[in-house]
Amino acid sequence: MKKTIVLVILVVQFAIGGLAQHSVRWNDSLRRPAFKFQRFTDQKWDTTSLAKPGDLKWFQDARFGMFVHLGLSSLKGVELGWGRQTHKFPDIGIGTVPDSVYDNLYKDFKLENFNPSAFVKIAKDAGVKYIVIITKHHDGFHMWNTSCSDYNIIRTPFGKDYLKEFADAVHNAGLKLGFYYSQRDWYHPDYEPIDRATQKTLGTNRETDMLSVPLDQKVNVTEKEKRYIHYMYDCVTELLTQYGKVDVLWFDAAWWGGMFTEEMWDAEGLYNLARHLQPGIIINNRASIPGDFDTPEQYVGDFQNSRPWESCMTLTPPSWGWKPNQKVSSAKDCIYSLASTAGGDGNLLMNVGPRSDGSIEPEQVKVLEEIGEWLRKNGTSIYETRGGIYLPTKNLTSTYRGAKLFLHLLDIKGEKLVLQAIKSRTIIKAYFLINGDAVECKKVGDSYEFKLPKELPDQLDTVLVVEFDKILDGIKPIAPLL
Ligand code: GLC
Repeated sequence: MKKTIVLVILVVQFAIGGLAQHSVRWNDSLRRPAFKFQRFTDQKWDTTSLAKPGDLKWFQDARFGMFVHLGLSSLKGVELGWGRQTHKFPDIGIGTVPDSVYDNLYKDFKLENFNPSAFVKIAKDAGVKYIVIITKHHDGFHMWNTSCSDYNIIRTPFGKDYLKEFADAVHNAGLKLGFYYSQRDWYHPDYEPIDRATQKTLGTNRETDMLSVPLDQKVNVTEKEKRYIHYMYDCVTELLTQYGKVDVLWFDAAWWGGMFTEEMWDAEGLYNLARHLQPGIIINNRASIPGDFDTPEQYVGDFQNSRPWESCMTLTPPSWGWKPNQKVSSAKDCIYSLASTAGGDGNLLMNVGPRSDGSIEPEQVKVLEEIGEWLRKNGTSIYETRGGIYLPTKNLTSTYRGAKLFLHLLDIKGEKLVLQAIKSRTIIKAYFLINGDAVECKKVGDSYEFKLPKELPDQLDTVLVVEFDKILDGIKPIAPLL
């Protein structure tokens, strides 16, 4: 029975591209599923490679970024990386496109409508403050002019350094730049992160056995794998020396209940190298060491103000790469996710999967424009805010800056909103952000009662601003209802 449950979790996990994890302390008291939460000892937290807290300020202030999953798979309309038939151990499943076909797709990769400045303008107009670009996905194809491998963008009919053009456009637009680099590489002959002996101890039922690998298990790194680590070091060095300032490095081989471990990537060394090459860079938690921020995937993370986090979600769930006839999320859904992540004190990294010509489908552009339009009017309730003071619920989430609280009325029904009062503060005034209309509020016992109009003024997400007598920093988050 237990095995069946685990298997179901894994199937669901992989079907949606994987759930990802939080880095937590060993003594974390909450009962959490092992595949989502990697536990580290206090000693590890004290000695691991971390960014300086100040280096994460821009990131938390930004709140909204764009992920761009563009790669060879778009020629076949299958998932990026995963669409290739062979997924090397310990990854499971097989893709629908035979390796001999997938690995030759580069010959047709033209990116004939890739216009980096127009692309970045779409992102900027949508209100994002940073862009994270796929430089190499699990399929091993390099989207930059690299001397680490022949399998790269220069050999395509496009023939130019996609990454350079893109990175320059991001810099020119004044946005922050992030590089996604997957340590998994199903194309590279030396990629074999788990040695045969360890594979054996995992048994034949690798999907289920994976979760029973002891938390502190060390894997033996073979000579082959050492060569692979060198190659990875070379790639990361190129990425962090040839494209100007890089603000975020986004790895993608999380721990998954023992599936990947830090020895596989010499993770501490890799992080130190990155910090040396790009002082101030921030790095995510997908290399089996704590990293600088957590990365819940395809869902809005829980409230967490003790450490930065970023939910990555796609505009066309559950796809990362372009596929035909995908359902595009509505602007309302995306704004709901954005307000909910900000309310939980996290970021939203919204993914687009452009077509193989390098352009984003018009239907998706339209949604991005709508998000941008909402943010131009309501951005002050998102950017440079912190999550809280009220803990997020399904219908209501809140952010604050200084003495202003922004209540996002995501799905509030009725004309009366009752919230638990904040004991140490007094309300000065309350009004809708979108039109400045005053909202009546009275304190009844330990509660606030807001009188709302029959119809809220913003169909996408009405923000109610509540101004207090004193700044809100330092108040412990509270539940909205008594
Ligand atoms: C997962 C998927 C990968 C995707 C990434 C984005 O790790 O395997 O395809 O690029 O999530 O977060």
